[in-house]
Amino acid sequence: MSANGIMKSLTPPDIQAMKGGEPIVCLTAYTTPIARLMDEHCELVLVGDSLGVVVHGLPSTVGVTMEMMIMHARAVRRGLTRPLMVVDLPFGAYESGPEQAFENAARLMTEGRAGAVKLEGGRVQAETIRFLTERGIPVMAHIGLLPQAINTVGGYKVQGRGDAAKDVLADAKAVAEAGAFAVVLEKVTASIAEKITDAIDIPTIGIGASPKCDGQILVTDDMLGLFEDFQPKFVKRYGNWAVAGREAISSYASDVRARRFPGPEHLFGDQAPGAKKTKN
Ligand code: KIV
Repeated sequence: MSANGIMKSLTPPDIQAMKGGEPIVCLTAYTTPIARLMDEHCELVLVGDSLGVVVHGLPSTVGVTMEMMIMHARAVRRGLTRPLMVVDLPFGAYESGPEQAFENAARLMTEGRAGAVKLEGGRVQAETIRFLTERGIPVMAHIGLLPQAINTVGGYKVQGRGDAAKDVLADAKAVAEAGAFAVVLEKVTASIAEKITDAIDIPTIGIGASPKCDGQILVTDDMLGLFEDFQPKFVKRYGNWAVAGREAISSYASDVRARRFPGPEHLFGDQAPGAKKTKN
């Protein structure tokens, strides 16, 4: 709580200070009402570019634009008081170099009101992470499976198996050394996730990684059972919202067709229950 009694949002240093302590609870959000549901439960809320797939129906995150990220970030911001809001830099918004990354990250912070940005890539993005953090933009890194690289990698495969483990470890060390305040480990073997968590001094946030990570994140539409197109093995479903929604919509359709809705209690004027009868 701040001196004026307004709830203060957690900051990147607050999240970094949680390294090795209580697990950090993180989820994605794309809209105000869903952000409100998680406000009291999460330390970090990510406006992930997964919104391209789960909200906009795109085949991958590659078609997500800065305008989409800013619009959803503004919506999520209105629903949060305490968690740190991190916003993804979308594909094409940072890869050409640190200056491009700064320009777009600054837009996410000023127009989208992000508390920090996230970008995908390990050693290859270390210079950009350093450039941003030295200029006041907190960065959460993202290594392991990189969904924005789907077109070069050719699939959503587990990362860090066999000889590739040393590359993922080197990526983790590089982003920590470059100044990232936390790092997402996506779809890596449990043993490399554990090794990385022990090896670096910033929190690891796992998604398909290990319970030993410093925190966990899931795509909210996956864990609520709202997105049904596919379910990765690492997702645990905590709800069945698509089933509940379909049932509700089907009941509404039946009521409308049978003229059961609207009922008298939904009416105004002299047909509403208890209304005084007026002469026409
Ligand atoms: O875009 C996203 O939702 C993410 C999470 C899967 C970490 O990057």
